[in-house]
Amino acid sequence: MTQGLLSGKTAVITGGAQGIGLAIAERFVAEGARVVLGDVNEATLADAVTALGGSASAASAVCDVTAAGPVQNLLDTAVRTFGSLDVWVNNAGITRDATMRRMTEEQFDQVISVHLKGTWNGTRAAAGHMRDHGGGAIVNLSSISGKVGFVGQTNYSAAKAGIVGLTKAAAKEVAHAGVRVNAIAPGLIRTAMTEAMPERIWDAKLAEIPMGRAGEPAEVASVAAFLASDLSSYMTGTLLEVTGGRHL
Ligand code: NAI
Repeated sequence: MTQGLLSGKTAVITGGAQGIGLAIAERFVAEGARVVLGDVNEATLADAVTALGGSASAASAVCDVTAAGPVQNLLDTAVRTFGSLDVWVNNAGITRDATMRRMTEEQFDQVISVHLKGTWNGTRAAAGHMRDHGGGAIVNLSSISGKVGFVGQTNYSAAKAGIVGLTKAAAKEVAHAGVRVNAIAPGLIRTAMTEAMPERIWDAKLAEIPMGRAGEPAEVASVAAFLASDLSSYMTGTLLEVTGGRHL
């Protein structure tokens, strides 16, 4: 039998109960990892663990990434359940789209809090553990929205650009301890988050994509597996675009 890319590793995935996070969990399990999902949605979490093969390969903890306490509890759950922590994926996300004229201060704060503070909470906790235990890999979900800025997403574009800066700064801080920190910027990926979009906006976005189609969650998951594994052993602080060539 060939060894998987992540054989024997334990990976935490925030926002892992559905969408891109769940696709990452599926790919990681297929590559030999055990996964621990953290999410605010308790019902979908339970279904996800079952879909991933149950307690032999998956566990979960209800976790709101905006606060450090639940994030530490998620980390502790992983170490207690599977004995190590090798990979951490900061994927949890929400959108609260509106033009600046209509966006409330609360909508701005919510998006910054889940994406930017949530990624900081996860990166800080994971790096803190990994530097004392022989290293590891952290993968952060940015977005092409952070590169070009989308109308109606001043909150989300700011948070996703912020994640790139956070990734680079953290990568420099912990490289000497064997911890790599990289980021992925997906373009238009077919999930619940994008299915909520009005059809005319979806069609306008499709028209901008040289490959002429939206991406699938599994196509982001394969890049996450690359960044989580030793295949990318000499990469840190990088941002990989998974966009079908959009906004090059
Ligand atoms: P989704 O909406 O399908 O899944 C997001 C998950 O995060 C859900 O399970 C949700 O319950 C969880 N979540 C929300 N707030 C949370 C919190 N405070 N703490 C813990 N979990 C929380 O979204 P999707 O599309 O799978 O997105 C995943 C990541 O990929 C997000 O960071 C998103 O910004 C990013 N992304 C998605 C793109 C797309 O086209 N779908 C494009 C670019 C980036």
